[in-house]
Amino acid sequence: MLIEKDMNLADVLHHDHNLIPVINRFGIKLGFGDSTIEEICSDLNINLDFFLTITNTYHDPRYFANSHLKSFDVYLLVDYLKQTHKNYLNDRIPYIARLIKQLMEDTTEHKASMKLLENFYKEYVNELTRHIEREEKVVYPYVLKLEKAIDTAVFPDELTHQVKTYSITDYEKEHENVEEKLFDLKNIIIKYLPPTSNQNLCFSIIHELFILEKDLNEHARIEDTILVPKVESMEYVILNNKN
Ligand SMILES: [Fe+2]
Ligand SMILES: [Fe+2]
Repeated sequence: MLIEKDMNLADVLHHDHNLIPVINRFGIKLGFGDSTIEEICSDLNINLDFFLTITNTYHDPRYFANSHLKSFDVYLLVDYLKQTHKNYLNDRIPYIARLIKQLMEDTTEHKASMKLLENFYKEYVNELTRHIEREEKVVYPYVLKLEKAIDTAVFPDELTHQVKTYSITDYEKEHENVEEKLFDLKNIIIKYLPPTSNQNLCFSIIHELFILEKDLNEHARIEDTILVPKVESMEYVILNNKN
């Protein structure tokens, strides 16, 4: 399904409920009746092209955002990505940590295995947090600097030097490492954790990890397929302006 501006947003969510946290990051709260996407975006002052690019990319891995690439500013994308990070770090990650803690408290046997699970989760969270911090402290500011230079047509030497030495494609590789660690974490629970008496709680943890994984994969795909090409085209403009 291609998500289009004249569609009823409620129908879209019935079709793909995974989009609920995504629209929430745009500031859209549930309770919008039969409004279309265009009406909601206009009411809340959301860039319509940007909204369609993100929701379509998230909804369908085969969707290619090329036609929309030029029609919104990069700072919108950076804002959206930061909102997503906030949702992971402030809501989802602590929620899963609470479930794991509860599992440890409820389980009298296999204490050592439970501790192992908790430690592995902590390591995973550390790795994800480091990745997010690097994006927010290095990658996104670099991207915004490129956009500012192009908007103002001022190209400082220092920025040109940075463009020549920094490669945005290095950053795509990091996503794979974070994804692998989450896969291992799911495997610990599915394959190796000794059977616990509270299987329902184990299902809830694993279910949350699958939801987190899907969301993180889509987030990384948005970074790889929308942010990176945008940056590459801006780098091209800057290098050609100086040469
Ligand atoms: Fe990110
Ligand atoms: Fe990322």
